[in-house]
Amino acid sequence: VTEYDKYIRVHELLALQRDSAPGGLVNHDELMFQTVHQVAELWLKLALHEVRGAVKMWGSGDLRAATHRLRRAAEIERLLCAQMPLLELMPPKEYHAIRATLGRGSGQDSPGFNRLLESPSEVWPAFEALLRARGVTLIGIHRDPEAHPEMYALVAALMDLDEGFQRFRYNHFSLVRRIIGDQVKSLKGVPAAQLAQGTTEPMFPELWKTISTLTREHTGESQY
Ligand code: HEM
Repeated sequence: VTEYDKYIRVHELLALQRDSAPGGLVNHDELMFQTVHQVAELWLKLALHEVRGAVKMWGSGDLRAATHRLRRAAEIERLLCAQMPLLELMPPKEYHAIRATLGRGSGQDSPGFNRLLESPSEVWPAFEALLRARGVTLIGIHRDPEAHPEMYALVAALMDLDEGFQRFRYNHFSLVRRIIGDQVKSLKGVPAAQLAQGTTEPMFPELWKTISTLTREHTGESQY
């Protein structure tokens, strides 16, 4: 065993794949299918680690470090999006052979995704506490970004994170449409079309509402 293997634990890692399991792969594409999901769990876990790290940093007053960590999480979301086209190279017919081995396994039960999905319940109150501590409001930051450069950068990074999550959900929906179509039910009985909703569901709605508020302040348009 090399030092590399001891640290990275390659043997154990690769043993987790279905080509090492009794029975092996159901088809050529199954290794790609499992690899993309396994990698996604690792990236999602790391993204949450970065988001929590960001909250910790702004809690200790280091806004630059917090912004940097949020940027990392957003980069991870880009990676998650970038791997989706790999699975689009799988003929739908091959997926049906894989699907037969999934049981009721569903991405809906992805721990990494669900933790990130729930993260706003801890991130948003912490962000509101930061606004209070700094004596600023979201609209105040947008009205005068030069007066609050670090807060403005942090807000932008939160928006990138939010946008990246929605983009990931959109890319996933596109994949689903390519592989099983959007007029069918998932293994859990959920209509695949329901996934479309999540593609425009923000993590932090207030961040987006504030942009409309700013526009209205400039145009005089009333709320509708
Ligand atoms: C052949 C490829 C794929 C197909 C056909 C597929 C299909 C589906 C379907 C039908 C759903 C709806 C919920 C349910 O299952 O009941 C779903 C949800 C989900 N899948 Fe996939 N999926 C695929 C690949 C992936 C990959 C690679 C990931 C990992 C990153 C993933 C992660 C998720 C997540 C996180 C959800 C919940 C999404 C949400 O609620 O917005 N899926 N998938």
